[in-house]
Parts: sequence; C-alpha cells; structure tokens
Amino acid sequence: MRDQAAALLAWYDIHARDMPWRTPPAARKAGVLPDPYAVWLSEVMLQQTTVAAVRGYHAKFLEIWPTVTDLAAADDADVMAAWAGLGYYARARNLLKCARVVVAEHGGRFPETRDALLSLPGIGPYTAAAVAAIAFDSPETVVDGNVERVMARFYDVHTPLPAAKPELTALARAMTPQYRPGDYAQAVMDLGATICTPRSPACGICPLRDPCAARIAGTAAELPKKTPKKKTPTRFGIAYVARRADGAWLLETRPESGLLGGMLGWPGSAWSDAPDPAPPLQADWHVLDAQARHTFTHFHLRLTIMLAHVAQDAAPERGQFMPLRPAALPTVMRKVYDLAAVTLRDG
Ligand code: ADE
Repeated sequence: MRDQAAALLAWYDIHARDMPWRTPPAARKAGVLPDPYAVWLSEVMLQQTTVAAVRGYHAKFLEIWPTVTDLAAADDADVMAAWAGLGYYARARNLLKCARVVVAEHGGRFPETRDALLSLPGIGPYTAAAVAAIAFDSPETVVDGNVERVMARFYDVHTPLPAAKPELTALARAMTPQYRPGDYAQAVMDLGATICTPRSPACGICPLRDPCAARIAGTAAELPKKTPKKKTPTRFGIAYVARRADGAWLLETRPESGLLGGMLGWPGSAWSDAPDPAPPLQADWHVLDAQARHTFTHFHLRLTIMLAHVAQDAAPERGQFMPLRPAALPTVMRKVYDLAAVTLRDG
C-alpha cells in the first residue's frame, strides 16, 4: 500500500491546510518539528470540535499559558473559564491533570512514544498516536472519523460503524508508511476534511482516485454505513437567575464529575423528564416566556428560566454571588444569561 501513501504525501506537499499549530511539510522535511505542547493542545481541542472553532481557543491558550509548565501552574477556574464555549468540559479538566503530570513526572517534556503518552491523563489511543506521529514523527496510525471514512471508501467496506472500527483501523495501519509519519497522519485527515467529505466527495480531484474501490463501484457517497442511532431524548430543567441589588449574580461551580463538571452555572433543578423546582433562595421568582434550548451528545435540553431581583442581604442555600463574565459560562448557561439579560434590560 506504499503507493497510496506516496500519492497522499505528494498531494499534501501542495495542499496541506494551514493551521497555526502545524509545521508545513517543507519545514518538516528540513527537520523542523512542531512544539509537542501546541500539538497536544490542538489534538485535545479538535476532538468533536471543528478546526474553525478551535483556532481562537488554541491561540488564547498559548498566549495565556505559552508552555506546559505555565498551564500546569494555572488556577483550575481560569482554565475552565478559558475553555468555556468549546464544550466537552472533561477535556479541560483532563488537560490540566495531564499538564501537571507532564511537569511533575516528566520534567515538563512530553514523552515521545505512544505507550508513554497513553499513560497520561486524558490521552487515549487517538491523541497518543496523533502526538507521537505529529510531534515526534513516530510511525503511528492516527484514526479519527475522517480516516475511517477514507478507509471505508478506499476499500469499499460496507460494514456499518461503529462495528467496522477495528477493520478500518487495521486497514489504516496497513497503509501507514514508515517515512514522514507525521505528515502522512495529517494528510489522511486533511483528505477526509477537504476532498473525501461526508457528502458529495470530490472524487474527481482525489489523489487516491484511480485505485479507490468505492469510486470504481460508485458507492463512495453512501459510505461509511452507520448503524442508526436511537432517537435523542429531550430532558427538562429549571435555571434560577438571581441578581442582587449591587449587580452581583448568583452562580455555582458545578460538581467535578458529571456534565459541565467544574464549570460555572446557574443553580437549578436536576435535568429530567419532570424536574422538581429547586430555588436556591426564597425570592419573588418570575418565569420567563422563552426557554433556553441546547443539545448535548445524548439529549436535548429545555431549560425554564426563573428570574428574581434579590436584596443585598439575601442568603442563598446554594451558590455564591459574584460579578459575571458571560464569556466564562459554558454555552447552555450563556444562553440562559442572554435570555435573562434581554428581560432585565426591557423589564
Ligand atoms: N483533525 C484533528 N487533528 C488534525 C490534524 N492534525 N490535521 C488535520 N485534521 C485534524
């Protein structure tokens, strides 16, 4: 399968996407490797998140914490606030844990092998292979959704995902070259993101066009097959937005484990089919007409928003009054704020 790797690398030499954490192929050929810290940060951020969304966050993190040693010394709350809006907040908690282990146990240098990387908090098979290949040019096979799609098409695999994962991983491994593994890993991902796209793949300009089994069979657009998902359920909840006379807002840090763990949020009910009211203090609560809607991986959420102006000496059972920086809120909590703020302005 070395011909395919060579064709992909030749394509990548010309069409590599420009990303701030990436060392372009010409520089890599001259022996320049990227900063492992910047690569690791990008790969953690890129999980379940688009390149466009990641760019600004990656730049902000590198500006505030230019090295893994800086990040390891950061306050947890500052890192969670800087991550706000990116989603999948366990990534941010694990990011900090990982940075601290790299500093405490590895002298502030990322280990170079896939196995050593795998032993770090928050680093699974994907990230370990990606960092080993991209930052250290180790011949590891990186398999994400793009790579699975490229393999399913190139070999015309009709087994549906997720059952097809082991087979697609083995095919990806067989195609991985020993030379330029960092460029190669990124070349397959770029091909999947720009040419071998989920809908309307641009087979006409694909470097793997001639040998691609799905193109020959005319099945590219219908692959990879996927086992249908169960319908996403809807849950409901109540969020309480209390504003004190001095302008402070009642917020709480959510428990470490669980959804939005460690993030700031409005006190509220559990999220369920029929939530029980759970006001964090006695107040003259008003219900808002509009609900905040948000979709998590496994459910849709609709939050009823309760609003109250409270006295300076209000004593809440939960949370703390504090100044609010809307940008530090995770997206669903930010939506609640935006709806409440309109009412407060107008009312
Ligand atoms: N998706 C995740 N990591 C990537 C990378 N390094 N290059 C291209 N796409 C990616």
